[in-house]
Amino acid sequence: MEFIMSNNLLREFEQYQEEFETSAIETLRSGRYILGSRLRDFENGFAKYNCSSHCIGLASGLDALWIAFKILGIGIGDEVIVQANTYIASVMGITINGATPIFVEPDEYYGIDADKIEDKITNRTKAVLAVHLYGIPCEMDKLVHICKQHHLILIEDCAQSHGATHDGKMVGTFGDVGCFSFYPTKNLGAFGDGGCVITNSDELDQKFRIFRNYGSQEHYKNSVIGANSRLDEIQAGLLSVKLKHLHDIISERQSIAHRYNEGIKNQKFILPKVRPKSIAVYHQYVIRTKDKEMREHLIYYLKDQGIDTIIHYPIPPHLSEAYEYLGYHSGDFPITEHYADTVLSIPMYNGYSEDEQKYVIKVINKF
Ligand SMILES: Cc1ncc(COP(=O)(O)O)c(C=O)c1O
Repeated sequence: MEFIMSNNLLREFEQYQEEFETSAIETLRSGRYILGSRLRDFENGFAKYNCSSHCIGLASGLDALWIAFKILGIGIGDEVIVQANTYIASVMGITINGATPIFVEPDEYYGIDADKIEDKITNRTKAVLAVHLYGIPCEMDKLVHICKQHHLILIEDCAQSHGATHDGKMVGTFGDVGCFSFYPTKNLGAFGDGGCVITNSDELDQKFRIFRNYGSQEHYKNSVIGANSRLDEIQAGLLSVKLKHLHDIISERQSIAHRYNEGIKNQKFILPKVRPKSIAVYHQYVIRTKDKEMREHLIYYLKDQGIDTIIHYPIPPHLSEAYEYLGYHSGDFPITEHYADTVLSIPMYNGYSEDEQKYVIKVINKF
């Protein structure tokens, strides 16, 4: 069997190759590359998909986050509560604005532990950022309740969770703004960088549209100091092709996860869990080992058997060099640090064949 990569983007491309190529050529031949009809169509389509009033295309998932915090008025002196075990971009979205991240440990579903939030609320707390990590929804009922009670803004980082639901509701629609990334590996991935926000607020919609275009609504009239953060026409057209197939793309990932759930019997590993009321979309399928040493052995063993894996993520933000200034040390967030030492993402991508899946399951069970 060919070496099995942890992700293989070509496989999904090949499934819809003709449609992608047609779309790209049409855009190239259209003569319109920024803020055109393809972006509008995609924004309308993705807003509808999420049962949200508005979608605003931006240049990346990080832009979606920092611009959301900025537009919601969060800055210097403000605190934002976020889970400690997220990808560092979630935290950068907060700190780019000068606000301070207040970390909370995750629960066993890899989302923020809602029961630990209230202890961290101070008179500086302005918002909570929920990250649906790996495509597994956070405990949204509790988060919505806490935010309402304490008058906090709720933002969702849906970079890994396009299409996931909690209690029948799309992630990204529980709070004020849902932030998405279209980085190529995402479940709805572009062929370059891209991102968006969704919101039900007409006022925020206008503010995002103006901000992403140098703070300008009308040519050469700039009402605020904005950014250049526009999802381009080529990406928007390609994303519309994928959006048409997103249901199938997600179903395929859920089938792979189901096979892993049923097939991996090796008691050495902890498999991902999803709340009964949630539907996960498996951006990653993350297993856990007993300790770091076992993970090292597993990585080498799998590589030796022709299987690649990846760690999401080995260094939690509070221990990264970029956040040294926050003054955290090893041991400050034991659950997060344990996860960083023991999580391992096994192959998960569209076009990953059943034979390959069976082989990976067999090899994992033999470890
Ligand atoms: C949880 C999370 N938040 C934010 C981002 C940032 O998205 P982007 O890479 O599009 O800037 C990512 C993606 O890498 C992510 O996984």
